[in-house]
Amino acid sequence: MRRIAVFTSGGDAPGMNAAVRAVVRTAAWNKLHVYGIERGYEGMIDGHFKRMERRDVANIIQRGGTVLRTARSMRFMTPEGRAMAADHLKAYDIDACIAIGGNGTFTGAKVFSEEYDIPFIGVPGTIDNDLYGTDYTIGFDTAVNTAIEAVDKIRDTADSHNRLFFVEVMGRHSGYIALHTAIGSGASSVLIPEAETNIEDLKTVLRKNKARGKLFSVIVVAEGHHLGGAAGVSALIKDELASMEPKVTVIGHLQRGGAPTALDRVLASRLGHHAVNRLLEGEENVAIGIVNDNIFTCPFEESITKQKQPREALIRMASILAI
Ligand code: F6P
Repeated sequence: MRRIAVFTSGGDAPGMNAAVRAVVRTAAWNKLHVYGIERGYEGMIDGHFKRMERRDVANIIQRGGTVLRTARSMRFMTPEGRAMAADHLKAYDIDACIAIGGNGTFTGAKVFSEEYDIPFIGVPGTIDNDLYGTDYTIGFDTAVNTAIEAVDKIRDTADSHNRLFFVEVMGRHSGYIALHTAIGSGASSVLIPEAETNIEDLKTVLRKNKARGKLFSVIVVAEGHHLGGAAGVSALIKDELASMEPKVTVIGHLQRGGAPTALDRVLASRLGHHAVNRLLEGEENVAIGIVNDNIFTCPFEESITKQKQPREALIRMASILAI
């Protein structure tokens, strides 16, 4: 192996730069040549490759976003798009790729590596933390910290006005950000796609809380909740609980930006470093992950099809601590 490419793809996540840095430096240490591909699979299709040496990744570990930029590529889902990408990888003499991203990124890598003889290693980078095969994904911790900071601020105004707030956090199909934000911010309740929501029970709890003197409530709702996120849930209760003046706040893309936390920087550095090591050891078409603080790999197939669920015990604990 002489030349590898690295790229970021899908939704950006704080810590992706730390992973790119770790890949480039570990590869340089092992005398590999590294090419960075801009805008993920889009850049692979269009031939946007640039040589990256160890100094090119100086001063990026602390930066949010991704210096390689990113995209969600529709063209890579077509055989024609993948053929163009393969031509460019061959033209640059790339022996293997390191793909930093989430489910869509790994799906693309899996399909591509079945068609062409270029191995991939996936590095889990998504704020959603919804990838099987790793306890945590790059960006999750930063996103949760951002959401908690926002909820802390909302609590101040909710408290001042005796209001009920529904705060929506990101998580396309997953309640990890919501659950951790709710626990970390002491929210009154959390609604996630992985657990059933009974609206009547929620109304009863809110009424009881009010009756026993709890004058404001903050409820964290995952974006992917089947009742339609925070707006959907609020619409279902607003008439009956109008006296609580329900409000909806969607934190949105704020959660995707900002400097990565220490946990995300260290996680991304470890994952990027070991992705290169595993490639050199001959592993291919797997996603790297950390489970119980040990580095593991998981075939793309499992990583994209197996469902990762927040622990039942954590969901239960969140409701006990909110009494
Ligand atoms: O996958 C990360 C994520 O932030 C999800 O939580 C969210 O549903 C989605 O990306 C938003 O994607 P986009 O930035 O393309 O609108």
